[in-house]
Amino acid sequence: MKKHIVLFASGNGTNTQNIIKYFQNSNQAEVVCVLSNNKNAQVLDRSKALSIEALSFTKAEMLAPQNLLSLLKQYKPDLIVLAGFLLKFPEIIIDAFPNKVINIHPALLPKYGGKGMYGHHVHKAVVENKETYSGITIHYVNNQYDKGEVIFQKKISLTPQDTPQDVAAKVQQLEHQWLPKVIEDVLIKAH
Ligand code: GAR
Repeated sequence: MKKHIVLFASGNGTNTQNIIKYFQNSNQAEVVCVLSNNKNAQVLDRSKALSIEALSFTKAEMLAPQNLLSLLKQYKPDLIVLAGFLLKFPEIIIDAFPNKVINIHPALLPKYGGKGMYGHHVHKAVVENKETYSGITIHYVNNQYDKGEVIFQKKISLTPQDTPQDVAAKVQQLEHQWLPKVIEDVLIKAH
C-alpha cells in the first residue's frame, strides 16, 4: 500500500505541483488530496490538472476545525505537508497527527520566522538585512509558528545585487529540488 500524503497550500502552488509530479512516479507514496484556505488559489487548478482531489475550506471551518479533521481522517494521511500554507495551522489537527505534520519555510530558521514572516515578507527582510545567505528549512509543526524540530536545511548564497524577487527565485529552486526528497525520507523513516 502506498503511503498517503495530504498537502495544504494557500496560493500559487508550485511546490504542490512539484510534489504531486514527483510522487506520480513513486511506488512508495502518493498525494491523495490538496486542501486550501483560498477557494480561488491557483494551487487548486494545478492539482486538479494533475487529477488530484483539491478542496478549499473557509476561515470559519479552520477556526472550528472538527469537520476539517474528520475530512482529513478519511484520507488516512501518513504525512501532512504544509507546502506554502500561510496561516497558523489548527492545533487540534497537529495533536491528532503527532509527528505527521511538516512545513517548508523559505529561510534559514530560527532567523526570519514567526508571525507575519511568510513568502515575499521573508525575502524582503533578508535583502534589507544584507544577508549573504538564505535558504530553506523543513521542520515539524508544533503549536508555535516556525518553532518545531528542524528536519532539513539548505543554504544558498546571495549577492549584494539580489532583489527580493531574485532571492525568492533562488529559494524556490531549492524548495523544488529538496522538498519531495525530504518528504520521501520522512515517510521511509517513520515506518
Ligand atoms: C514557498 O516559498 C514556501 O516556502 C512559502 O510560501 C511559498 C509558496 O510557494 N511558505 C511560507 O512562507 C510559510 N511560512 P508556492 O505556492 O509556489 O509553492
